[in-house]
Amino acid sequence: KPAPACTLVIFGARGDLTKRLLIPALYNLAGSSLLDADFRVLGVDRVPGTAADWRDGLAATMQDFTKDPDGEFYTPTIDQDAWNWVADRLDYVQADFADLGQMRALAERVKGNAVFYLAVPSRFFGPLVEMLGQAGLVTQQEGVFRRVVIEKPFGSDLATARALNRQVLSVLDEQQVYRIDHFLGKETVQNILAMRFGNLIFEPLWRSDYIDHVQITAAETIGVEQRGAFYEPTGALRDMVPNHLFQLFAMVAMEPPASFSAETVRTAKEQLFESVRPVRPEDAVRGQYRAGTVEGRPVVAYRAAPGVAPDSVTETYVALKLHVDNWRWSGVPFYLRTGKSLGGRRTEVVVQFKKPPVAIFRGTATDSLPPNRMILNVQPAQGLTIEMAAKHPGPAMDLAGVQVKFRYEDAFELQPNVGYETLLYDCLTGDATLFQRADNIDAAWAAVDPVLQSWGQGAEGLEFYDAGVTGPAGADALLARDGRAWYPLDGT
Ligand code: BG6
Repeated sequence: KPAPACTLVIFGARGDLTKRLLIPALYNLAGSSLLDADFRVLGVDRVPGTAADWRDGLAATMQDFTKDPDGEFYTPTIDQDAWNWVADRLDYVQADFADLGQMRALAERVKGNAVFYLAVPSRFFGPLVEMLGQAGLVTQQEGVFRRVVIEKPFGSDLATARALNRQVLSVLDEQQVYRIDHFLGKETVQNILAMRFGNLIFEPLWRSDYIDHVQITAAETIGVEQRGAFYEPTGALRDMVPNHLFQLFAMVAMEPPASFSAETVRTAKEQLFESVRPVRPEDAVRGQYRAGTVEGRPVVAYRAAPGVAPDSVTETYVALKLHVDNWRWSGVPFYLRTGKSLGGRRTEVVVQFKKPPVAIFRGTATDSLPPNRMILNVQPAQGLTIEMAAKHPGPAMDLAGVQVKFRYEDAFELQPNVGYETLLYDCLTGDATLFQRADNIDAAWAAVDPVLQSWGQGAEGLEFYDAGVTGPAGADALLARDGRAWYPLDGT
């Protein structure tokens, strides 16, 4: 069903996010007839230009970005009708959002329903929201919606996230705020909930009685590339953990919500986040990549990347252990890791079960079999894999490890998707289930804050790893201390 008519106002219209993700997502939504005939996009940026040249620039880049990050849905030629449909609705205004006069002029142009998308650097989130307020752009009116989408990073630690929430909520109602985390737009992330709560067979086992521990991995082969200026003050922990990895963690670990409504789901998440024990600095490992080889390509050291200080102590890898103090998970550690310039690209959750209580096949090869694992493949593989034991053919009662696999592409015809379609559509239709509430943001930062504070600006404990390996040695040691090991990055 098409989303209601509305104007999508994009601040940062000339930026990377707009051309790389927002416009291709709108094109895909248009192709699926999910936008109203009266849908409009108003691009706002300080860069001088006209609607025509903004449109032409986007038309040129569409070709590159109408594919998902794994290139699976690459559309060799753009469907001209769908693109024209979008292009006809694109308008542009050169404006400086720090200028109240120009923002008031903008208010004259925006009538009826509107969504303001802040595709700008995070330091502008607060001031821009205040400006929207002063210009009267987000005043609530009967029968009309005015919503604001805020990108990540939302704050840079607990204190700044709280301050930003205060600033945002002094202008907007929580119901108007859509704090985006694009991981929630991924089919496979949402599928974790479908898998857990749409089936009976997993949930009874989904607790400390049966689960030994959980690993959450977001390993990337790309390095910092051209994003040094953003990444230097950010680092892997802020960039990935309290947001993306915590979303995966929430999907896996939250209690069954009573319904799939925005408030119930976000409250279930909140209860989980509040039961996370603040991470002790000794349970966190940080690393930075040196020069190396990733998938056959030579990679320069992080410190040699553009925009990076030659003596930078920014981490490009982080691994940590979470403890959850609730009835379901007490005693089950969650190990999280993420890093850049690693040997493999994969985002996945590995749920490792306990061993069967009695080994009746003792003396056979079974003794050495790993326990059951369920691997939720988020990307590039999409689906899930269960590792289990089966009888090896032959006269002896020997068991062997086998895999049961579900692959998305085998079961469904996949839709073109850049990952933002669902989130944009949800925002246009007013469904905040897949967006972060203020308290979710706060609680996630609170969990990692002790680590951020202890790292400060110093280099203590920073390890170096060669680009192309699976991470620094300390990450292996973190699990080895508990008698465990990471699931191999080149597994499945
Ligand atoms: C972004 C981070 O939010 O997520 C990037 O800023 C990271 O550093 C990216 O590469 C990962 O997202 P995806 O969808 O490519 O897994």
